[in-house]
Amino acid sequence: MPASAPAYSADSISEADFRYIRAIIAEQAGIQLSEQKRSMVHSRLAKRVRSLGLPSIAAYCDQVRNYPERELTGLISALTTNVTAFFREPHHFAFLAERIMPELLERNAASRRLRIWSAGCSSGEEPYSIAMTVIEAMPASQSWDFKLLATDLDQEVLAFGREGVYRGDRLDGIAPEQRRRWFRRAAARSVDRALVVETLREHVSFLPLNLMGQWPMKGPFDVIFCRNVIIYFDQPRKARLIRRFSDLLTEGGHLIIGHSESLHGLTDRFRPIGKTIYRRGAAEC
Ligand SMILES: C[S@@+](CC[C@H](N)C(=O)[O-])C[C@H]1O[C@@H](n2cnc3c(N)ncnc32)[C@H](O)[C@@H]1O
Repeated sequence: MPASAPAYSADSISEADFRYIRAIIAEQAGIQLSEQKRSMVHSRLAKRVRSLGLPSIAAYCDQVRNYPERELTGLISALTTNVTAFFREPHHFAFLAERIMPELLERNAASRRLRIWSAGCSSGEEPYSIAMTVIEAMPASQSWDFKLLATDLDQEVLAFGREGVYRGDRLDGIAPEQRRRWFRRAAARSVDRALVVETLREHVSFLPLNLMGQWPMKGPFDVIFCRNVIIYFDQPRKARLIRRFSDLLTEGGHLIIGHSESLHGLTDRFRPIGKTIYRRGAAEC
């Protein structure tokens, strides 16, 4: 190691620092880290410590304490998972195409306006899959004002999504005709990179947003996707988030969550209408 490089100590995380990290991540991002997550926290923070060139996890925790505005999103990003894929949980996209879109095309026929939010969008695969599905379900002869808001608290994944360049093997879940329609070979890159076409990207806005913080948008949205995100949150925070989603949805609007998530016991504002698919409004008698 060069003499000038800070020595990295792979010491385990101290009890006090682990407690501090758990508290700050719960307070700022609503994320619950159990005692069992200690080694995961240690290894993820060790990686972050190395990339910042700091000498130890203790020094890193001091940095978070002293300059939270600088490192908080880095910390949250380090401790959350960004796993995602095009057309992940394909039944949601089938439902969107076959059930939600026909209804919205009728209901919003006068305004020809469609608003969808992908909350916790990670690197863009989810919002682009939604956008492909929506545009393909629209009558080609009509022009609609369709906008998709894609938010995440992790700036790195947002930048990736905004750029819209994916490794070829990331496109495996996409049907060949959709690949031809919605992707181009990324110029000046290796042949194995595909760029989302502008006619799809222009519908999607990637913006930073902590779901636990203030929301600048007023809505209303026709559909909200928040998949594989609430799994991190405790019950009171989940309930509050679902209430806020309901406030921003149109009456009869849809909320779609991840495969291991449920709204059971969290709200009376939604009723289940499909596998992890909910509709805003009271239960039908
Ligand atoms: C597992 S990924 C899910 C991606 C996509 N929704 C899917 O299902 O494929 C979870 C995402 O939620 C984001 N996330 C976690 N806590 C968040 C919070 N408090 N506010 C906004 N995004 C958050 C993470 O940064 C991550 O990108």
